[in-house]
Amino acid sequence: MKTTTFWDTLPRPLVGLAPMDGVGDHAFRHIQKKYGAPQLIYTEFTAADRLAVGDQALLKDFFYDESQRPILAQVFGHIPDLFRRMAVMLCQLGFDGIDINMGCPAPNIAQRGAGAGLIRTPQLAQAIVRAAQAGVRQWQAGATVRDDPDVPLHLVTQVETFQAQLPARYRQPRPVPVSVKTRIGYDEPAVDSWISHLLESEPAAIALHGRTLRQGYSGTADWDAIARAADLARQAGVPLLGNGDARSLEDALQRVADYRLAGALIGRASYGNPFVFCPGGSAAALAADPYRLLRIAVEHAWLHAATLSHNRPQRFLGMRKHLGWYARNLPGASELRRALVQTSSAAQVEMLIAHYLDYRSSWEGAASPQQIQERT
Ligand SMILES: Cc1cc2nc3c(=O)[nH]c(=O)nc-3n(C[C@H](O)[C@H](O)[C@H](O)COP(=O)(O)O)c2cc1C
Repeated sequence: MKTTTFWDTLPRPLVGLAPMDGVGDHAFRHIQKKYGAPQLIYTEFTAADRLAVGDQALLKDFFYDESQRPILAQVFGHIPDLFRRMAVMLCQLGFDGIDINMGCPAPNIAQRGAGAGLIRTPQLAQAIVRAAQAGVRQWQAGATVRDDPDVPLHLVTQVETFQAQLPARYRQPRPVPVSVKTRIGYDEPAVDSWISHLLESEPAAIALHGRTLRQGYSGTADWDAIARAADLARQAGVPLLGNGDARSLEDALQRVADYRLAGALIGRASYGNPFVFCPGGSAAALAADPYRLLRIAVEHAWLHAATLSHNRPQRFLGMRKHLGWYARNLPGASELRRALVQTSSAAQVEMLIAHYLDYRSSWEGAASPQQIQERT
């Protein structure tokens, strides 16, 4: 009997935050959820092989907080057994779902047969989904990373420490659905054969970016191909989320309705703008306070410092692009933008933005030379 998971209980249509490597870290996801409330969140993708080598930093990339639920951990690779072992660990870490990346077009990943490379080896793709599902079942039957002789002790301890802090219901056996995010084809759209193959392995859901691997991010996403895939998925009782080029909540919802989908994911349009998930978008959210995104940028920077960069300037570099995005649509803020993308700490960010806001408020409160002339 099919078990009920968040895929069945979340209100439809479902609009979520797409996984984005180099962007969607813990701090970004926290801010997106707090201000935009996407219904679903994915981590950045993480290589399954990192478990095999006992990477010390693995858990940093899987760090999340309770506010981000439901949250899916995304993994890429091409060796089924690593997905089985990884699934045990991700269940133990309390994730709501496990998502397998079959869409990354980067040559160093796809040419090794992982990411979108799996579109060319559908049987291996199926084996990977089944291996992850087997890992979930093993965890439900009591397996933990401690039973895996190849996981180094330091990682076992980190996993157990994280697990001990989870709410009770996430420390117990529960269903953890395995889903897939992919593209519509390798060189050419091949939805019928590719999605049909994928459905045979019974993924809990599919998120589909409407471009082929060859397209990368060029051209426009093919939502007709997404709709065709959704028809196939619907016949199999699998929810399908469309993805590619949605610019706002309204745009995403329109596409979901037009193409009869379970939902959609928004990626790039969320850069520096969590309000993309809110009705009316940033225009509505910023109507009362045009500088709200700058205040959010300060909060984001402090969270980054506390959880990711730990006051090490080198690690703060990952925050800079977000700062540029938060300030990108402010008229007359080019100097601020230039300064923000050179910061090395949250304290610097706060100072720069405080100065800018002080300056703006004194400038906006003051009468212009023309107004002074008119009053006299
Ligand atoms: C910087 C960046 C990083 C990405 N990283 C991932 C990833 O880790 N996993 C994944 O499945 N897709 C990844 N993608 C693809 C996005 O999830 C999404 O499919 C794509 O950006 C199209 O959606 P959009 O037009 O709404 O941005 C990434 C995209 C970008 C731009």
